[in-house]
Amino acid sequence: MTDPISNETRFLHAIEMGLGAWQFGDRVFWSFGQTHNEADIQAAFNTSLAAGIRFIDTAEVYGMGLSERFVGEMLKAAGEPVLVASKFFPYPWRVHRWFMRRALENSLERLGLESVDLYQIHWPTPIVPPETLMDWMAELVKEGLVRTVGVSNFNPNQTVRAYTSLARRGIPLASNQVEYHLLNRAVEKNGLLERCRELGIRVIAYSPIAKGFLTGKYSAENLPPGPRAVTAAATLERARPLLKTMTRIAQDCGGKTLAQVALNWCICKGTMPIPGAKNAAQAQENAGALGWRLAPEQVAELDKASDEAV
Ligand SMILES: NC(=O)c1ccc[n+]([C@@H]2O[C@H](COP(=O)([O-])OP(=O)(O)OC[C@H]3O[C@@H](n4cnc5c(N)ncnc54)[C@H](OP(=O)(O)O)[C@@H]3O)[C@@H](O)[C@H]2O)c1
Repeated sequence: MTDPISNETRFLHAIEMGLGAWQFGDRVFWSFGQTHNEADIQAAFNTSLAAGIRFIDTAEVYGMGLSERFVGEMLKAAGEPVLVASKFFPYPWRVHRWFMRRALENSLERLGLESVDLYQIHWPTPIVPPETLMDWMAELVKEGLVRTVGVSNFNPNQTVRAYTSLARRGIPLASNQVEYHLLNRAVEKNGLLERCRELGIRVIAYSPIAKGFLTGKYSAENLPPGPRAVTAAATLERARPLLKTMTRIAQDCGGKTLAQVALNWCICKGTMPIPGAKNAAQAQENAGALGWRLAPEQVAELDKASDEAV
């Protein structure tokens, strides 16, 4: 059987885990300025780098550009090579290729970069078909502004359409970034994971610790800050038996934490998790998901507990 992974995108398949940067500057969902500040995110970034993490995911909409700006400053100060992924948000009025070019130029300016390693369509849109979006992307690749092209939140059909459209121009579809964790395995059940594997598309797992709910730190007495509090009671109730299984497996693995088990499970499933971290301690803990693997029986046990948590 021929290898479906193209040489241009092979680097993405070699990355086991990245760092999510939505937390960098986002006040509305992640309470930036209240639960964490600039010094905290700088420490999260430094700690991740020191732990060997060399891939960071941001977007033009995170903190309304602030995340990209912080990432840009941190990259400059670090002076080390870090792969950068950002995203184009297809607002309904962005109906011409000009909007994508302008958005990318603005992202690059904030990031302080001449090109981005991975440029993703943040969400599919009913207004501009995947084929057209990929046409716009292809032009940016040809100009050297974008190294590889990704999508995000695309279903199997939209993914294949994007893949086929790029392939016509000799460009591989590098990745699809989707929500994937032990409390949401929709992409496993709807065939997306399998389809991406067949086509050599890297699946990037966002919210890999279910926005903090898989760490075991939240309870009815300790609700998360911000909008997460609204759904917390139902989520925690649903997750209770799963968290118990995770706790036992974490202990069996020699004293790992629940977050580390959650992230390692994503890796075992062939995806690249990109946990967000608000501070050095979280980044350090998350990096501890690397360098070991859950046994296949443990993955199966987690699958079963996760199935029962629906
Ligand atoms: N493409 C998309 O549509 C999309 C959507 C969502 C996210 N993303 C990307 O995916 C990244 C990760 O997803 P996410 O931020 O939604 O969720 P996540 O990574 O599952 O959860 C991150 C949150 O969990 C808590 N946390 C992290 N590590 C922890 C640890 N070791 N111990 C205890 N708590 C910990 C922190 O919040 P608290 O301390 O406040 O609990 C942190 O903000 C984002 O940064 C972003 O880059 C993409």
